[in-house]
Amino acid sequence: MKNFNQNNLFSLLFFLSFSTLSVFSHLFSPPDNYLINCGSTSATTLLNNRPFTGDLAAKHSPSFSTSSHPLFVKNQNPLSNVPQIYHTARVFTKPTKYSFPIKQKGTHMVRFHFHAFNSSNLDLGRAQFNILVDGYVVLSNFTRFVTDSERNPRVVEYLVWVDSEKLVIVFVPSKDSELAFVNAIEVISAPTDLILETAQYLSSGNLKRFDGLNKQALEVVYRVTVGGPKVTPFNDSLWRTWVPDEEFLKSSVGSEKFYFGGRINYHVGGASREVGPDNVYNTARLIRSKNDSVPNVNMTWVFPVKGGYKYLVRLHFCDIASISGGLLYFNVYVNGYLVLEDLDISYITSSLASPYYVDFVVDGDSSVGALSVSIGPSKSSLPHVIDGMLNAVEVMKLNNQYKSLDGDVCADFVLKSHRSHGNTGIFLTLVAAVCIVLSLSIVIRRRIIESRESVSWSRLPVNSSEDNVKC
Ligand SMILES: *[C@@H]1O[C@H](CO)[C@@H](O)[C@H](O)[C@H]1NC(C)=O
Ligand SMILES: *[C@@H]1O[C@H](CO)[C@@H](O)[C@H](O)[C@H]1NC(C)=O
Ligand SMILES: *[C@@H]1O[C@H](CO)[C@@H](O)[C@H](O)[C@H]1NC(C)=O
Ligand SMILES: *[C@@H]1O[C@H](CO)[C@@H](O)[C@H](O)[C@H]1NC(C)=O
Ligand SMILES: *[C@@H]1O[C@H](CO)[C@@H](O)[C@H](O)[C@H]1NC(C)=O
Repeated sequence: MKNFNQNNLFSLLFFLSFSTLSVFSHLFSPPDNYLINCGSTSATTLLNNRPFTGDLAAKHSPSFSTSSHPLFVKNQNPLSNVPQIYHTARVFTKPTKYSFPIKQKGTHMVRFHFHAFNSSNLDLGRAQFNILVDGYVVLSNFTRFVTDSERNPRVVEYLVWVDSEKLVIVFVPSKDSELAFVNAIEVISAPTDLILETAQYLSSGNLKRFDGLNKQALEVVYRVTVGGPKVTPFNDSLWRTWVPDEEFLKSSVGSEKFYFGGRINYHVGGASREVGPDNVYNTARLIRSKNDSVPNVNMTWVFPVKGGYKYLVRLHFCDIASISGGLLYFNVYVNGYLVLEDLDISYITSSLASPYYVDFVVDGDSSVGALSVSIGPSKSSLPHVIDGMLNAVEVMKLNNQYKSLDGDVCADFVLKSHRSHGNTGIFLTLVAAVCIVLSLSIVIRRRIIESRESVSWSRLPVNSSEDNVKC
């Protein structure tokens, strides 16, 4: 009996330390973590239980400042289903710089939130602008969806390697609209294992080594959970959204959705909870053999992409459906090429329900306009068991040779094209005059605040000597 109790005590201790560990691993605490509710005077506004700080309430927070002329708007008639951070926006009529002090160099997630509205005769829906992040063009001639009938907020996400003490974001209104806006900004240190240094590069059917992946700027194009419902930021350790796969699934004949109610076994060397949360790994779509033969089918997903860029395709696997290890073998194809043959997930992870992911870099072909991923049985597949499985897919665009994620223009060209235009018209001159008066009225305050507060907005110099920039 004594032994039995001791064992119990041991397992209790073991259980406690394990659950403490898992609680801690759940609480990813990024060294750099800016959540900013632009144009808001309230100290904090929650979105998915996360506190966003109003950038006009900086008096209460040392982390960023109101040092520049605050041009902001408020939605007087917000729709009831639109979260509060989207009720205010910061508006830019000139190129404007926002600089974030960075504590820890490395990959950072940068998210912008947009929701256009009408406010005091200003229609944010007609804004057109460019955004530069750390010298990369991430959005160019971006318009906020005059055509978006649902009027849903839109969130865009980038992963950028920051190598200096500051991350600089520049908003550049286009010549035609002279108007840019943003409702909220997130700048967060990414876990070091989120984007690795190397991947496999699929080039004309052959796999080569791809180096320096983490030094590229990446745009999240698709983040898809397979076989399950949407995963919201509330249930994701990095506050990401994973959409269901139905809209991308092209052939589902012979496949089925699968849900696993047990515990996901995160292991060192596999995927961490930051790479993919439990809610992503506990669902999948699979191919099942129900009789003496292995089904001769593929599951195929197709992702429309713009040509002229490379894409990172990250495939997430977690064997949540096999009854034991060593039973599940399958092939994985990207763009029709065999990239993983006889994949045996439980052999790699040494246990069931243990997540694993593989990265492939592929060229986006403009003549095809899409990437495809297929999963199908292999020559080692067995009858009466699971013969193929996929839990999630992410597709991220890599910057092109112009350091752009959105067109063949570089950052200097964007800045220069804004400066070079001449005819602003009387109206804009008047607007500018009003702006100058307003800015003058806060100049003194700005000077006092500027020196001690860290994140700051500032007007970019209009005169430039970089007129010989070519892109
Ligand atoms: C603002 O109001 C105008 C005129 O009613 C409308 O055409 C436009 O779509 C509105 N913009 C937004 C973002 O709702
Ligand atoms: C989070 O996940 C749980 C179950 O996994 C689900 O019941 C709940 O609705 C999710 N919450 C949100 C806000 O998505
Ligand atoms: C197994 O089932 C599939 C359909 O589910 C059928 O097409 C196939 O002929 C069956 N094979 C055998 C050996 O019964
Ligand atoms: C599955 O897809 C691969 C790649 O496109 C192809 O080579 C293979 O023939 C397909 N198998 C079936 C059964 O369609
Ligand atoms: C954005 O629009 C301007 C003016 O219409 C044009 O010169 C520029 O090339 C466009 N940028 C991109 C990336 O298409």
